[in-house]
Amino acid sequence: MSHRKKAKENGDLEKDVIDFFIHESDARIVVMNPDFTIVEANLPYLEAVSKPKAGVLGAHCYELTHGLSAPCSISQPELGCPLLETLRTGKSAHVIHEHLFPDGRAVYCNMVTYPLKNPSGQVTRIIEMWRDITRELSHRVENRVKSLKADLQKLVQEDRMISLGKLVASSVHEINNPIQGLLTFSRLMETSLQEGKLTKKTMAEFKEHLALMSSELERIGKIVSGLLSFARQSEAGWNPVEVDDILDQVIHLTRHKMEIQNILFERKRSDMPLTINGDLHQLQQCFLNLVFNSIEAMPKGGSLFIRSDLDPFSGRVTVEFRDTGCGIPEEHLGHIYDPFFTTKEAGQGTGLGLSIVHGIVKAHQGDIQVNSRPGEGTTFVLSFPRAQEGELP
Ligand SMILES: Nc1ncnc2c1ncn2[C@@H]1O[C@H](COP(=O)(O)OP(=O)(O)OP(=O)(O)O)[C@@H](O)[C@H]1O
Ligand SMILES: [Mg+2]
Repeated sequence: MSHRKKAKENGDLEKDVIDFFIHESDARIVVMNPDFTIVEANLPYLEAVSKPKAGVLGAHCYELTHGLSAPCSISQPELGCPLLETLRTGKSAHVIHEHLFPDGRAVYCNMVTYPLKNPSGQVTRIIEMWRDITRELSHRVENRVKSLKADLQKLVQEDRMISLGKLVASSVHEINNPIQGLLTFSRLMETSLQEGKLTKKTMAEFKEHLALMSSELERIGKIVSGLLSFARQSEAGWNPVEVDDILDQVIHLTRHKMEIQNILFERKRSDMPLTINGDLHQLQQCFLNLVFNSIEAMPKGGSLFIRSDLDPFSGRVTVEFRDTGCGIPEEHLGHIYDPFFTTKEAGQGTGLGLSIVHGIVKAHQGDIQVNSRPGEGTTFVLSFPRAQEGELP
């Protein structure tokens, strides 16, 4: 077979393959000249641009797909045209385009261009193929969001257990002290009973002792029930929650830890209900981590101020934690939300507290700001969107 005949046969075969590929594919395909005029288009493409074949052949691609009067590289360079890339390099190019509609809807297209070359290697035609991947992409994003939420839920649960350990450790003192008192009183009463001298005076003393004993027992009961309700594994979910109620629980759980450490506590609350949509356990853990950090920053005492409010300008719920602790050096500020960043001695901190706080705040469409001066103290301010009345969680 002559060389020319063989080349012709090869060319015919290539054309047949390309035709088959264009017309049998369910992707939208156009073939263009290097000046962007369309020479061939398949049915899915014609359907996507809502035009008959006659209205497409000879037209420029940028007119049809973007309604532009000049190539995208001039009118909308941010689109990043793969055609230009293929013309420039002579190689296949790929890009994902985002088409935004006036109603805010976004369509994502996966675009690939392939060059067709003449025997001397010049690009004579370009095949452009695009596929709408909006559904596939949103499905992937949804799955990623789901798995991130599951990861956060797991982390919060683990952090909850660590917090429980810290709370129990500080509660031991709080429970032990009244127990010593209870033992002393009960021994005193036992001795009086053994001596058999139940005078009016001893009866009055017994009454006093019993009143003290029951108030101490009540205190122990409260500590234990606070710990138990914190430890209980009830399913929390997304619900309207009152920020002040969660703060109260956290303060109740940590108050004795503050007392032991000579920390003066002050609280300012809003007179309005501060309802946000969120997960009670996560928010509790978030506030608890911030209070723990403040307490740990004041080993020799200090003061902690917690304020909850409704920001009159933004309409968001804000929570402020202000301590007079050691403060955070400027060079650390950029790392405090990094997992495992800690300045505490081994065994004192894992460095997960603030990364969990950050994750929880972001999951609640919230914002977190920190302001700190070494030697003076630290303030964390969180803000969350307020739940609208009648809004479904
Ligand atoms: N209120 C604060 N005052 C001073 N330093 C703080 C404060 N909050 C956080 N930090 C600094 O940020 C670091 C990271 O805090 P984070 O809560 O993530 O971890 P941690 O407290 O060290 O350990 P963990 O919380 O896991 O027990 C702390 O080690 C500390 O240096
Ligand atoms: Mg911490």
